Amino acid sequence: MATPRRRWSHFLVITLVACVLHHRGAAQPLPTKVNEAEFLLEIKRAWGDPPVLAAWNATSSAAGVHCSWPYVGCNSAGCVTRLTLAHIDVTGPISNAIGSLSDLVHLDLSRNNITGTFPTSLYHCSSLQYLDLSWNQIGGELPGDIGHGLGIHLSTLYLYQNKFTGRIPASLSRLQNLRYLGLNLNSLTGAIPPELGKLTSLEDLWLGFNQFDPGELPTTFKNLTNLVKLGAVNCSLVGKIPSYLGQMTKLEHLDLSFNSLTGTIPPVVWSLKKLQYFIVHRNNLTADLVVDGFAAMSLTTIDIGENKLTGIIPEVFGHLENLVYFILSDNNFTGDIPPELGKHSPGLSYIELDNNELTGVIPEGLCAGGQLQALTASNNSLNGSIPVGLVNCATLQDLELSSNQLSGEVPKALWTTGQLRWVSLRNNQLTGSLPAAMSSNLTTLDIGNNKFVGRVPSVALGLTYFSAENNGFSGKIPANIGYGMPLLQHLNLANNKLSGRIR
Ligand SMILES: *[C@@H]1O[C@H](CO)[C@@H](O)[C@H](O)[C@H]1NC(C)=O
Ligand SMILES: *[C@@H]1O[C@H](CO)[C@@H](O)[C@H](O)[C@H]1NC(C)=O
Ligand SMILES: *[C@@H]1O[C@H](CO)[C@@H](O)[C@H](O)[C@H]1NC(C)=O
Ligand SMILES: *[C@@H]1O[C@H](CO)[C@@H](O)[C@H](O)[C@H]1NC(C)=O
Ligand SMILES: *[C@@H]1O[C@H](CO)[C@@H](O)[C@H](O)[C@H]1NC(C)=O
Ligand SMILES: *[C@@H]1O[C@H](CO)[C@@H](O)[C@H](O)[C@H]1NC(C)=O
Ligand SMILES: *[C@@H]1O[C@H](CO)[C@@H](O)[C@H](O)[C@H]1NC(C)=O
Ligand SMILES: *[C@@H]1O[C@H](CO)[C@@H](O)[C@H](O)[C@H]1NC(C)=O
Ligand SMILES: *[C@@H]1O[C@H](CO)[C@@H](O)[C@H](O)[C@H]1NC(C)=O
Repeated sequence: MATPRRRWSHFLVITLVACVLHHRGAAQPLPTKVNEAEFLLEIKRAWGDPPVLAAWNATSSAAGVHCSWPYVGCNSAGCVTRLTLAHIDVTGPISNAIGSLSDLVHLDLSRNNITGTFPTSLYHCSSLQYLDLSWNQIGGELPGDIGHGLGIHLSTLYLYQNKFTGRIPASLSRLQNLRYLGLNLNSLTGAIPPELGKLTSLEDLWLGFNQFDPGELPTTFKNLTNLVKLGAVNCSLVGKIPSYLGQMTKLEHLDLSFNSLTGTIPPVVWSLKKLQYFIVHRNNLTADLVVDGFAAMSLTTIDIGENKLTGIIPEVFGHLENLVYFILSDNNFTGDIPPELGKHSPGLSYIELDNNELTGVIPEGLCAGGQLQALTASNNSLNGSIPVGLVNCATLQDLELSSNQLSGEVPKALWTTGQLRWVSLRNNQLTGSLPAAMSSNLTTLDIGNNKFVGRVPSVALGLTYFSAENNGFSGKIPANIGYGMPLLQHLNLANNKLSGRIR
């Protein structure tokens, strides 16, 4: 008996010869097909012969039959071209036998528990176009020669959500046909190599959630004008948001959140007509937003929260027909919420404006599209009353308006019509009363420091947190409040005009 290693080399030679012959039209398919079955069985063996691959078996390996095995695709010559083994829960390393599948074009091993290091045996698969190893436990450094080893036809390289360490090899820049490159969610270090700027076919580039040295986005990236998606979240970026992004006219998705970027948001960003996601959450961006020449009408998501932005919220944001997420919390915005906000955005679902210096009233039309799920705007100086449009918003789940200067009566409809789960109106001057029975969806209700009057509700089946101190509630505390509010963990009714006792 030959050792497994020897046997593998033997098959490697035969396969390479046989599959090359096929490409030239020679008609000798049988040996190749049989041998490739053996390689598949080796791959299976390295994963401990998992039951999910039970149909890959030697007894069924009559000529060419492996082409009908599950997850396997062959070309007309009977050579394996596709392995789509995503999410089948296999564990263990990738056998070197994979390199013997010399006609492999498409390899998807994503979402398994594959271990070991980057499979350099794939360097033999010169036709490889699609390689997805994402969501596994593959580690070690990416080989420095990866860009020389992998075939020039490679257009997709997904290595994200693994345990890769060390630097991004500059040699990746040789893969001139790469269109999709995902390196995010690893433990990569060092600098982002400027050489990546040579990958001018790139459409998607994901670098986020790595531990790079603090540094700027390379200036060479200005040549990546085919980029559609650029993700560089939480990867130690410093310096300014480069204004060359304004030349990336195909850009749809830009996420630079959780970095230490400083300076302004370059006005050119707002000229990107196709931009849908603009996310720079938690950086140190400063200054007023300059939106002259605004053309970014495709925006669905604006998330510029947790920065040091100042000035007014541009009126034009109220006219974005595709807006869904509008996150501006934790900045120093002043002035009014754009009065048109919501009226022209039928999908608007999340508005977060907390911790700014906003004044004026809450616009009437925030829920005009009938999709609003959350409005949070605490710690501002908003005044006026809670608009009727919000009270009747049937989709609203979270309403956080604490620490403003809101006044007027809160209509009872607010408490009965909607799906409200989480409400804080604390620290305002609101009046009104609550119904005897609150929606069972309500889990948190904080209306402390207001001017609510009437009876304390006796039923709120889902309520866990109820704070209503410093109001004008009167009458007896419902004797059966423990039954009416069975999940209650926090109750504060201090400083009202209540009588009776809680049991
Ligand atoms: C081999 O796989 C086939 C299904 O493709 C199955 O019917 C057969 O029982 C398997 N044989 C063995 C020995 O596992
Ligand atoms: C991977 O392995 C871990 C434990 O090592 C296990 O919890 C997890 O479910 C496995 N995932 C898959 C996709 O097999
Ligand atoms: C961008 O590409 C041009 C040629 O297309 C080249 O001359 C230039 O050096 C590149 N710039 C950078 C910063 O890589
Ligand atoms: C950013 O990455 C660091 C590790 O590099 C991690 O500890 C931190 O939780 C990440 N932050 C976010 C918001 O993901
Ligand atoms: C912003 O700058 C302050 C002061 O320099 C620093 O403490 C903070 O960590 C920075 N925040 C981010 C997200 O970089
Ligand atoms: C907002 O401005 C005030 C002064 O008006 C300043 O004290 C505060 O630190 C600023 N907040 C942020 C997040 O920049
Ligand atoms: C409002 O400000 C207070 C005091 O600074 C802070 O404790 C609270 O978390 C802020 N509320 C929100 C929702 O951020
Ligand atoms: C709200 O405050 C503004 C000043 O910021 C004031 O002009 C306006 O009259 C106030 N409106 C109400 C309803 O209190
Ligand atoms: C609670 O919310 C669900 C949807 O999340 C809704 O269908 C249901 O009518 C609500 N219940 C009440 C009592 O409002």
